[in-house]
Order: sequence, then C-alpha cells, then structure tokens
Amino acid sequence: MKGIVLAGGSGTRLHPTTLAVSKQLIPVYDKPTVYYPISVLMLTGIDDILIISSPEDLPQFRRLLGDGSDLGVRFSYAEQERPNGLAEALIIGASHIGDDTVALVLGDNVFHGPGLSPLLQRNARDVDGCVLFGYQVSDPERYGVGEVDDSGRLLSIEEKPAVPRSNQAITGLYFYSSDVVDIAKNIQPSARGELEITDVNRRYLAEGRATLVELRRGYTWLDTGTPQALLTASQFVGILESRQRVRIACLEEIALRMGFIDAEACHRLGERLGKSDYGQYVMEVARSWRPRVPVTAE
Ligand code: DAU
Repeated sequence: MKGIVLAGGSGTRLHPTTLAVSKQLIPVYDKPTVYYPISVLMLTGIDDILIISSPEDLPQFRRLLGDGSDLGVRFSYAEQERPNGLAEALIIGASHIGDDTVALVLGDNVFHGPGLSPLLQRNARDVDGCVLFGYQVSDPERYGVGEVDDSGRLLSIEEKPAVPRSNQAITGLYFYSSDVVDIAKNIQPSARGELEITDVNRRYLAEGRATLVELRRGYTWLDTGTPQALLTASQFVGILESRQRVRIACLEEIALRMGFIDAEACHRLGERLGKSDYGQYVMEVARSWRPRVPVTAE
C-alpha cells in the first residue's frame, strides 16, 4: 500500500500564525503537526509516502523530512498549485499510486489509541473500494458524516450536513483501491468549487464498495484547524507524554518498532536531535530496544 499526506491549504483559520508557515509544520506540543499523520501511515506498515503541499510550503517539508532514508522509508514530494479540494490529492498522486492500494491522510489529523497499528494493518489488507474511519463527535455538522444501520452497514455519507443523520464524523484517513484515481478524475467541483473527497466516497457507496470502521471509545481523533483545537491537541499530547514518559507519533521510535531501522540507526537519529527531550527519548528507546517481531495485525 502507498501513502499520501495532504498538507496544503492556506490555514486561514489560524492566521496570523500561518501567514508565513504552513499549518502542518507548526507544533502540536513537541513536534510538527505533520508527524502525527505520517506516524499513522507508518503504523499501517507503509514505507512509501508522497507529501503534497503548496508550492510555497513544500520546500520546508523537504527540509524537515528529507528523502526518508534515515527512517527506512521513502518520502517524495508533489505540489498542489491551489487548494482545489482533498480529492485532487489522488489525481496529483496518480503515478505514485500506480496499481497499488493507497492510504490518504490529512496533514492536520491526530489519531491515538491502543491497538491502532494492528487495527490499521487489518483494514489495509485487500482493500476493494474504500475504507473510512468513523468517530463519534458532539459537533458532526463540521465534518463528513456517515450513517450506519444496526449491523454497521454504511447507508449514507454527507459533507457538513446542516442536519446530521448521525454523530459519526468521517475522519481524515481513507484507504482506497487503485481505481480511486479514475473516480477522482471524474468527479465535478462542488458548489464551493472543490473536488470533494465525500463525492469520491459516495461513488464507492453507490457501488456497495464502501466500509466504515468505527474508532470506538478509547481512541482519540483530533483535528488542529483552529487555535483552540490546536491547544486542545497540544494539551492532550502533553499530558499523555509527561504522565507516561512515552511519546505519541515519534517517527524514529515507530520506524524502529515497525522494523524499518535497527536500534543503532535509531540511536544515531536521537543523537542528531541534540539536547531536546525528544532526542533524549529517541536515544533511550534505542538503548532499551530488544529486537522482537515487528507489530503486525492479529
Ligand atoms: O478532518 C476531517 C474532515 O476533513 C472530514 O470529515 C471532511 O469530510 C473533509 O471534507 C475534511 O473537512 P475539512 O473542512 O477539515 O477540510 P479542509 O478544507 O479544512 O481541509 C483539510 C486539510 O487539508 C487542511 O489541513 C487543509 C488541507 N487541504 C485542503 C484542501 C481543500 C489541502 O491540502 N488541499 C486542499 O485542496
């Protein structure tokens, strides 16, 4: 499976902070926001990731992440000229996807929870159509919303409905089969002038090829689109990390756990991060590492 992180847009709801820096590069607590969605792809077992951002911001992503070889993965980069909609990522990423399945994740989404990696790996197997991830929220009208029947079958998907049919928000993580490129190429811009990911998902729903996996109680899904949401996400990560002395979305640790790099390489990455607590943590993880079978789906 290939990975795509969509990290463009103009971040207008975070102005003036995002006038000179991409919103996916400002920190959620102790690391750039984009680390969180990248960690989700790596936890799915994906090691070939395309980062899409605006022409102005893309050089900063390259500077931060490089070619990925240090982490045992491959990062490549592509521009999105203008924020023409989430579905455009699948058109821009067409050659990256090729005949493979793909996981698209939004660059400002934070996921956390026990067993997330096996859950993602299980659902990434043999994708035929689309796999969406639902999360119960108190304000579904702000999101894509999925309606399911008692047996968990997906009945409808709507984008920011005024009167939501359920409180299941559709999160910014989508698994697709390779035919998604043709579907994305054939949808029309919506009333707000964007190629909507919800229209792609509805196409699969109409074909009976859409699945909604609910991230239940115990999982956390946060977006970081407003100052308050960003603060909430930072507080959440800060509390967990300082209380438990573990880190969320530490790419070096995940690369080690997934078997992309060995402990020696991991330690070197920690050294490079100097005196930061983050760097110290990476070195500590590497020092205490006992090789074992990488995390896999049950
Ligand atoms: O976060 C989940 C939600 O994301 C879903 O529930 C919705 O169905 C989906 O439409 C999307 O809603 P948003 O209102 O959050 O989308 P927004 O326009 O804010 O874009 C999400 C992120 O993608 C944001 O970080 C900016 C970036 N983006 C957006 C567009 C439209 C791009 O990189 N390129 C774009 O063309």
